[in-house]
Amino acid sequence: MTIKESLIKDIKARQILDSRGNPTIEVDVQLITGFTSGRASVPSGASTGKFEAVELRDGDKSKFGGKSVYKAVENVNTTIKNALTNKDAQNQNEIDKILINLDGTTNKAKLGANATLGVSLAVARASANYKFGPLYEHIGNLYNCEPQILPLSLFNILNGGKHADNSVNIQEFMVAPFKCEKIKTFADALMCSTEIYHKLKAILKAKGYSTAVGDEGGFAPNLKNDEEALDLIMEAINDAGYKAGQEVFIALDIASSEMKGEAEKIGKADGYYFWKTDKYFTTEEFIVYQEKLIEKYPIFSIEDGLAEEDWENWKIYTAKLGNKIQLVGDDLFVTNVSRLQKGIDEKVANAILIKPNQIGTLTETLDAIRLAKQNNYNVVISHRSGETDDTFIADLAVGTNAGQIKSGAPCRIDRVAKYNQLLRIEEELEKSSYTLKD
Ligand code: PGA
Ligand code: ZN
Repeated sequence: MTIKESLIKDIKARQILDSRGNPTIEVDVQLITGFTSGRASVPSGASTGKFEAVELRDGDKSKFGGKSVYKAVENVNTTIKNALTNKDAQNQNEIDKILINLDGTTNKAKLGANATLGVSLAVARASANYKFGPLYEHIGNLYNCEPQILPLSLFNILNGGKHADNSVNIQEFMVAPFKCEKIKTFADALMCSTEIYHKLKAILKAKGYSTAVGDEGGFAPNLKNDEEALDLIMEAINDAGYKAGQEVFIALDIASSEMKGEAEKIGKADGYYFWKTDKYFTTEEFIVYQEKLIEKYPIFSIEDGLAEEDWENWKIYTAKLGNKIQLVGDDLFVTNVSRLQKGIDEKVANAILIKPNQIGTLTETLDAIRLAKQNNYNVVISHRSGETDDTFIADLAVGTNAGQIKSGAPCRIDRVAKYNQLLRIEEELEKSSYTLKD
């Protein structure tokens, strides 16, 4: 009898550090064929959604302030390894089903979504390596499409909210270079964002602001208010020689579940609270505030404009703004098909942010992308604020023709690694196009 060489021979997890200096998990999957293996590591959020799958941490204050992940590592090295040894790495569906059943909870609370995702992604890599092909091609097979779209990229150039110790409330200010005469390829888009990023640095410096960066590589100055951030970005786009609102657009992640949480803390649970500048909004005022921003600035996308449990207001908000701009659900949908289906049924948002560690396996991640696309929701593949050098999301974005990606600033290797991988993919693909829109 011949042994199938793509069977899993060994699985080994270890604890490594992420970009914030917090422990996370890395997994190696070894196949029967002596030389084939796959490695993956798992990122971590700071403005984590309430409904995300569980990131298992030890909570032992004597180690890494309670953040160590030895238990998740042990779960991989014992329970998961035992269940997956001799299973075929090429059958991602079956592998992920075993992981889901082994955990047995709805939110990966038993094994930890960090444990299951690390294994799931490492298996996909081992399988791609087994076929001597690129990861995006393997993902294309799993998703059943021909990878050819380089994603419209949302580059984070200014950080606020929970990602920076500054006076800015909105968590992420991003620039998106749209396809145009000057920007024909992903490489052009990366150059464009980098030029804007460096112009912004020069502007901040000239005004006497800090040019230190936040968790996702964007600058984190203490500004007068959030509009000033938008004014400086407009200036930077212009200084870099691009036309805002024609060639380059702005995207925001308000991460407003955080503002809801802060409003609750001051006893005003109905509305939203900019805790850094002590400004409270009723929900109605908060929507009007965003409408005004859209009128004044070339904003094409807002993520988590309202909080993760504010479904009724999300309906009103989507009815008002959904035909003008992209409304992305991050904490709202948490890469979860049930929550996304509720959004589709109730006409809430028109796009989903995809973070594999919010759900815990590759198959479930692909299911969320598929459901979104079938219902004409846009898809934005995303990093986390705590990242590793793993570039999986770059291949995921191209492998599913997702259409969009956000991976932070064009600065700091944890962010840039993904963009650099997109450069390589663009070079490799014979038939490719930057973004879905021509
Ligand atoms: P997080 O931030 O990784 O801290 O959750 C990213 C986001 O909110 O999109
Ligand atoms: Zn977000």
